[in-house]
Amino acid sequence: MEEKEIQRLIEKGRAQIRRGYGITYPDYKSDQELKKPQPALVKAPMSDQIIDLPMDFEGIEKETDFLTIVNSRSSHRVFTEETMSLKQLSYLLWTCQGIKDIRGKSYATLRTVPCGGARHQFETYMAIQNVESLEDGLYHYLPMGHKIEFLKKVDDLRDFINVSLERQIWVERANVVFYFSIDFYRVEWRYGIYAHNVAQIDAGHITENIYLASTALGLGGCAIGSVDGKYCDEVFGLDGENETIFYAHPVGTVSVKDEQKEKDFYAFVKEQGL
Ligand SMILES: Cc1cc2nc3c(=O)[nH]c(=O)nc-3n(C[C@H](O)[C@H](O)[C@H](O)COP(=O)(O)O)c2cc1C
Repeated sequence: MEEKEIQRLIEKGRAQIRRGYGITYPDYKSDQELKKPQPALVKAPMSDQIIDLPMDFEGIEKETDFLTIVNSRSSHRVFTEETMSLKQLSYLLWTCQGIKDIRGKSYATLRTVPCGGARHQFETYMAIQNVESLEDGLYHYLPMGHKIEFLKKVDDLRDFINVSLERQIWVERANVVFYFSIDFYRVEWRYGIYAHNVAQIDAGHITENIYLASTALGLGGCAIGSVDGKYCDEVFGLDGENETIFYAHPVGTVSVKDEQKEKDFYAFVKEQGL
């Protein structure tokens, strides 16, 4: 690629992040300002196979000291493939996207994570294997009422996970891979042409809560930016136009015995004297 083209693309990327550098659109009004009806707060169920999740988390945390959890959080890429309990899955979903309350009559959901304007423009999909009482396959979280719905079985779930995450082969051993989509209009209704930057900032809160919740439960996982969204959209049945998967986070059972194997992922740092 030519240097000029590289610089053009870098400048385009930087421009999306800069704030207050003189580019304003004073005539612009978002659909909320234009008093257009607001979109649904959550996606409607896609199937009729709905499963209630337990909300009794008494005694499931292995660590409860906040500073210990923060200090011991790290990315895990080595999974031991033991069974994950339904309560653990429920805890992870609750802590990353659970709905605690509604603001106004139906203006916004208030969740366990913050979100610009409380738009909560994300939907959570899952590839699940080896979770207590659940058939392996693809699922969708229904945050109203804290339930999941079974979407479908896939012929080779591990192959789906591998291809969907750009062949990061270690992920296939996770018990659950959370795939996050953005439902664009849910955030564009309020922020319009300014929505897309804030929409992505919000995603970080979700995965940080998954990191901390996993650490509290003695599980492990890793945020994943390297996602083949088009392929995920096709398999989960999203149109890619109004809603697209863009971020993921696998979680699985882990063991301290695998500490060295975890470090081996970064062996190149030592090898290359970085
Ligand atoms: C937005 C984001 C995207 C990431 N994408 C990947 C990824 O695709 N593959 C991967 O192995 N790790 C990925 N990571 C994990 C980082 O590599 C990891 O957080 C970093 O090396 C620091 O290690 P720590 O999490 O153990 O502190 C990602 C982390 C974040 C926050």
